[in-house]
Amino acid sequence: MSLDRQDHVRALLDFFVGAGVDAVLEEAPVDRFTAEAREPRFTSHAPAGEPSPSPEPRQPRAPSGGAGDVTANARSRPSPPPSLPGGEGKGGRPPPAPDAAIMAARQAAASAASLDALRAILERFEGCALRFTAKQLVFADGNPQARVMFVGEAPGREEDIAGLPFVGRAGQLLDRMMAAIGLARTTAYIANIVPWRPPGNRTPTPQETQICLPFIKRQIELADPDILVCLGGPSAAALLGMTDGIRRFRGRWRAYHTGTREIRAIATFHPAYLLRTPLEKRFAWRDFQAIQAALAE
Ligand code: URA
Repeated sequence: MSLDRQDHVRALLDFFVGAGVDAVLEEAPVDRFTAEAREPRFTSHAPAGEPSPSPEPRQPRAPSGGAGDVTANARSRPSPPPSLPGGEGKGGRPPPAPDAAIMAARQAAASAASLDALRAILERFEGCALRFTAKQLVFADGNPQARVMFVGEAPGREEDIAGLPFVGRAGQLLDRMMAAIGLARTTAYIANIVPWRPPGNRTPTPQETQICLPFIKRQIELADPDILVCLGGPSAAALLGMTDGIRRFRGRWRAYHTGTREIRAIATFHPAYLLRTPLEKRFAWRDFQAIQAALAE
């Protein structure tokens, strides 16, 4: 490539990065709902119940450097469950239609008897198209035995690379906010409504959220925290039925039914929003103080 051409390519890439393009997908659009489009990437899938090789090399999970390693992240991977509703999209068969995907997600999530089983099921669930563009599943970080569970919206670029939620700038702010009330990843459990990164960090579609919802609900039920904290409006809308804005909704305790018991839940601002709107941190601080007081009760 001539120097001149290289300069042009570099300038074009700079332009893309400046415009927020940070993920490379494919050169031509792929209709993943046709068997032909899916076949080449997924013919290696084993039938349900047999260990299935990954369709493409997965990034190794990055060590978190905290006790999260010995709890949520460094666990040995369990073998896949004997049957997996919703994982039928293998071998060129088209993925289920949205309603069917939601049904399959409900069945698959309900069949998980433990967090490890749930993670294994999600690793193989093909009902959500995001899994095909994400590098890997971002299941959870922190301590699943913790009394408090934080739930965000969806992983971003850094989380997709690390395989862990909230490790980017927003995550670092979350760590500082938790530290301010005496929490760390050893004493809190952290997950997202949607466990795969949407391309380019776009907002998950309502359909993607609905498909993923049974899994996060089951994850909450299995982790069984005393206190649930929804980070941001999308999390509060999905889990707590928020219909008005997060400004009005945040900071008030609500009841959340896990499926086995009622726990206390609260919504607060998403740390990414606080990075953009630091003035609102004073309200988030009140919410975190309320969480600290509730944990002390
Ligand atoms: N934002 C989220 O909602 N979740 C993450 O894991 C990271 C950023």
